[in-house]
Amino acid sequence: MDKLIIKGGKHLKGEIEISGAKNAALPVMAASMLAAGENTISRVPDLRDVKTMGRLLSNMGAEFYYEPHRAIIRTDRIKKLEAPYELVKEMRASVLVLGPMVARFGRARVSLPGGCAIGARPINLHLMGLEKMGARIELEAGYVKATAKRLKGATIYFDTSTVTGTENLMMAATLAKGTTVLENAAREPEVIDLAEALKKMGARINGAGESLIEIEGVEELKPVNHTVIPDRIEAGTFMTIAGMTGGDITIRGCMLEHLHAFIMKLQEAGLRFEKAKDGVRVLGPARPRAIDIETAPYPGFPTDMQAQFMALMSIAQGTSIVTETIFENRFMHVAELMRMGADISFKGSTATVKGIKKLKGANVMATDLRASASLVVAALRAEGETTIHRLYHLDRGYEKMEKKLRGLRADVKREKG
Ligand code: EPZ
Repeated sequence: MDKLIIKGGKHLKGEIEISGAKNAALPVMAASMLAAGENTISRVPDLRDVKTMGRLLSNMGAEFYYEPHRAIIRTDRIKKLEAPYELVKEMRASVLVLGPMVARFGRARVSLPGGCAIGARPINLHLMGLEKMGARIELEAGYVKATAKRLKGATIYFDTSTVTGTENLMMAATLAKGTTVLENAAREPEVIDLAEALKKMGARINGAGESLIEIEGVEELKPVNHTVIPDRIEAGTFMTIAGMTGGDITIRGCMLEHLHAFIMKLQEAGLRFEKAKDGVRVLGPARPRAIDIETAPYPGFPTDMQAQFMALMSIAQGTSIVTETIFENRFMHVAELMRMGADISFKGSTATVKGIKKLKGANVMATDLRASASLVVAALRAEGETTIHRLYHLDRGYEKMEKKLRGLRADVKREKG
């Protein structure tokens, strides 16, 4: 397994280009299953999860070609309506093929994703919605079998705002008979981007980005040709890095409106933002101020930025309270940050971060995608050398991270393991 070796203490300076959003590319790739023909998706980031989604679609009979940063997916000869355990366990976003398969072919067999490091992450709301649309759902040997002659429009209320639940059912509803209304739908920019792609395929969707989305089913869709939005979480991660290293980083190709709540918090912590051509210039303070945060569904503070922000708070002036409301176990990075000297304690979903002057480099282990990002943030400031093990977690969501960091004068190298 690869590892990343970082010598901390440098002020990162320079500019980076943000890659396409992983969490927009994955649902749009799944949406290609809704129509027969050749689909072209651009600004698809060169990530492990994208390759996994490609393997899943190929496994079903699609032809998948990828060269950075474009995916071509031909979906004329789909013959295996199944998402096997081997692939779903690698990437839970594989469940996004469920809605499209039932909508277009009337049946699907998808492995239940099972839990992951950050929580149980059930898909009960995905299945509840499909049942409301007339699908028969059976659970057997860890798989979901869904069958429906033809899905019919329904009104679906989500007890909890779910991003992929909203995406799965929005896709399913595009070919249903009649109109579907999703209430308490997720409002993430990636949901809006998927709706844009579906509309280009001929879908009739109103309200994406609001908590009430209306989808009027059509008889058939045509293949998608779409460019996905930039990755707001990658952009947020590099903003945090500027704050952590007292740096001066210009971030190109990001959409600031996707990070409003997060940027407000970084400004409170003492980071300065200046408009730049096609992006933003971020200037970090010598030492950030301690700020409290609480994660929330979009447009609130993104849970996917909680771990990175906590790393920033670990060297802040004062004490910060970090509350995680979305996932029940998203503090796996705390123990690793403490190995670097951070003074953090937590009880349930609330962590208390007492800012200290200096983190010390150490051997640390990535446990999940955003925890690994928080270790990179911490290592860039820590005194001495940090080695981050199990780098495959980072590779799931960050394209060429070490190359981008070296471009900002960081002392970082990857060691093939
Ligand atoms: C998406 O995951 C993202 N992944 C996650 O990003 C992100 O952290 C998450 O949304 C929250 O914003 C993709 O888009 C591929 P949820 P998702 O359904 O859809 C509960 C990353 O770092 N829930 O919005 O799986 C669930 O347990 C990843 O890129 C149910 O109870 O998250 C959680 O507590 C990590 N039943 C809450 O809702 C359901 O049927 C929100 O989960 C579905 C969800």
